[in-house]
Amino acid sequence: MKSELLKRSVLFVLPCIAAALPWVPGSLQAHDVEGVGKLSSAEHLVAITRGGVLYDKWYGALGKEAPKTTHPAYPSAGKQKGASTWRCKECHGWDYKGARGAYHKGSHYSGIGGIRNMTHAPLDTIVATLKDKTHGLGELIPNKELMNLAHFIAHGQLDMDVYIDRASKKAKGDAANGERIFQTTCARCHGSDGKLINFKSPPKVEYIGTVATKNPWETLHKLRMGQPGVPMMSMLAFDIQDHVDVLAYTQTLPVK
Ligand code: HEC
Ligand code: HEC
Repeated sequence: MKSELLKRSVLFVLPCIAAALPWVPGSLQAHDVEGVGKLSSAEHLVAITRGGVLYDKWYGALGKEAPKTTHPAYPSAGKQKGASTWRCKECHGWDYKGARGAYHKGSHYSGIGGIRNMTHAPLDTIVATLKDKTHGLGELIPNKELMNLAHFIAHGQLDMDVYIDRASKKAKGDAANGERIFQTTCARCHGSDGKLINFKSPPKVEYIGTVATKNPWETLHKLRMGQPGVPMMSMLAFDIQDHVDVLAYTQTLPVK
């Protein structure tokens, strides 16, 4: 009798413990990437994707003129200058890890940290950070859009090292599944070999295949959120594994 009761209470308690555990990379539920996924309302997903394109290039997404100065918080030792130093990604990285991520060296190194610790942070706290002395964005970005950025930071970002091998840059995805999705969605604009849109001005060429191979973190961010200033779709309502599968497929496309 006693052991039966014990068994039952263990069976009851175990799922409760599992539900209370923090999100663990690797043991990921496809429908719950740090709070986003199939269970999120359309309204929430839209706010996150809007925040994601603002993170990419807020002045482009808002249709504003690019800032002419270098951001006061951008370190003088950094190699970038002018408008690009105002992009969130320039200081905090496409992988949201700043100097601890893919920008730990090279021409985009700034020494500034990432935004990973702000996952699940209260939206008001994030908005206050964006209005602080370091960022000074209160005058430049309307409140509603700052809120969208906060939604992205609290619920849209993720640990890209779970999905992309840092050293080889290879996506940990199933390219065959990615092909099915790419050929029925992305290919309408980008072409079946990804070469219909050239991101550079000829004679220079840069296609999806080029970007996905060179900068998989940027590609994953953009395919999940969309591209600022153009009517490109976002994949956010799909499972995260689908995002990574599409990334894996784009890494098989021609680079020139
Ligand atoms: C010119 C560089 C720069 C740009 C551009 C920039 N930030 Fe920051 N950000 C910082 C610095 C510096 C800090 C505080 C110290 C640190 O994290 O190294 C910070 C901190 C943060 C934090 C708090 C991180 C934490 O763990 O406490 C968030 C969230 C954040 N930034 C979001 C953004 C967003 C969103 C944008 C774009 C709208 C943006 N930042 C643009 C430099 C920048
Ligand atoms: C409705 C058309 C459309 C669809 C659908 C579309 N895109 Fe795009 N995409 C664009 C346009 C337009 C650009 C911007 C081109 C430019 O800036 O020169 C772009 C840019 C990109 C970029 C940015 C490259 C860079 O370095 O700036 C990536 C990555 C990308 N698309 C991936 C995808 C993927 C993956 C899909 C499918 C999930 C997709 N796109 C679906 C139109 C589309």
